[in-house]
Amino acid sequence: MTGWTLGEKNLIATAAARAPSVHNTEPWVLEFGNDELHPHQVSLYERLDRALPRHDPLGRDRLISCGAALAHVRLAIRVLGWTSDLALFPDPARPDEVAMVTATGRAAPSEAELGCFDAHTGRRSHRKPFAARPTDDETRALLAAQNVAGVGLRPVRGRDELAALAKLLHHTALVLRADHAYQRELSAWTAPVRDPLPGEGVSAATRRATTLPWAGLVRRTTAVPDIATLADRLRGELLVVVETPDDGPLDQVRAGMAAETVWLAATGAGLAGSVLTQPFHLSEVRAGLVESLSLNGFPQLLLRFGHPTGYREER
Ligand SMILES: Cc1cc2nc3c(=O)[nH]c(=O)nc-3n(C[C@H](O)[C@H](O)[C@H](O)COP(=O)(O)O)c2cc1C
Repeated sequence: MTGWTLGEKNLIATAAARAPSVHNTEPWVLEFGNDELHPHQVSLYERLDRALPRHDPLGRDRLISCGAALAHVRLAIRVLGWTSDLALFPDPARPDEVAMVTATGRAAPSEAELGCFDAHTGRRSHRKPFAARPTDDETRALLAAQNVAGVGLRPVRGRDELAALAKLLHHTALVLRADHAYQRELSAWTAPVRDPLPGEGVSAATRRATTLPWAGLVRRTTAVPDIATLADRLRGELLVVVETPDDGPLDQVRAGMAAETVWLAATGAGLAGSVLTQPFHLSEVRAGLVESLSLNGFPQLLLRFGHPTGYREER
């Protein structure tokens, strides 16, 4: 049996490269299997050299990023007409092998899968305000229905929860704005162009004052609104916490898969959005969120969605 064709490998690798990653570090590498027994296999390895010691000392965001890329890899394989099995951390002797995906048979992709695949080329981090138009119940239900085993999707809503979140994001912004080592690392991973290639760092547009402090990356010059204003602005957003029952590597990879699955569904439904993990690297913020939302598990990411204001984000 012959293995992946060049075209198939290309499609899978290109899809992986379009996944979001922390500071656009793209901390993964793919290896396509070509042995006789498993000619249609692809492994995703974590790139430990793409480290962010200040932002992500434990490598949590790196594994979440690998999970997001894995969601794209699996989707691409479906669109190629394959079903697949997934093994996470399949070999204890190779702890950097995050996942092995093995094609198991042929089946046409569903409309929903084709829609998500279409969406993956248009997904971008949108760190600006959304249009005033609220998201409808149908879209909310669609996002809530996206399911990755072992991951919870917890909407943040109601005056008290939004006020608590605003307080935590306000605190985060002040701490990170004053953290020189953090700011140096972020600058080092900021590409000098609007549209950096995958793995080349975050867009220079994130330096602009128009990037929202609660929606993006906090810089030295970021103006931080007061807590009441922040809470008011959060009220116009669809906010979802991605939480996991534990905080190990498996949880982090699954959180990344779930977040990206939801993000693609949201993009397909015409929404724009961005993700945040910045706040969850401050232990007091993570603990504060667990307490104020009565979470059962560990918050891994915050997703924010809304209707775009009729333009492609200036990058
Ligand atoms: C694990 C993870 C953490 C991220 N954390 C943040 C964050 O805290 N703030 C932010 O503005 N963007 C965050 N991002 C978004 C990345 O910066 C973004 O995906 C990357 O720059 C590529 O740009 P794109 O999403 O427009 O393709 C995160 C992405 C991932 C996967």
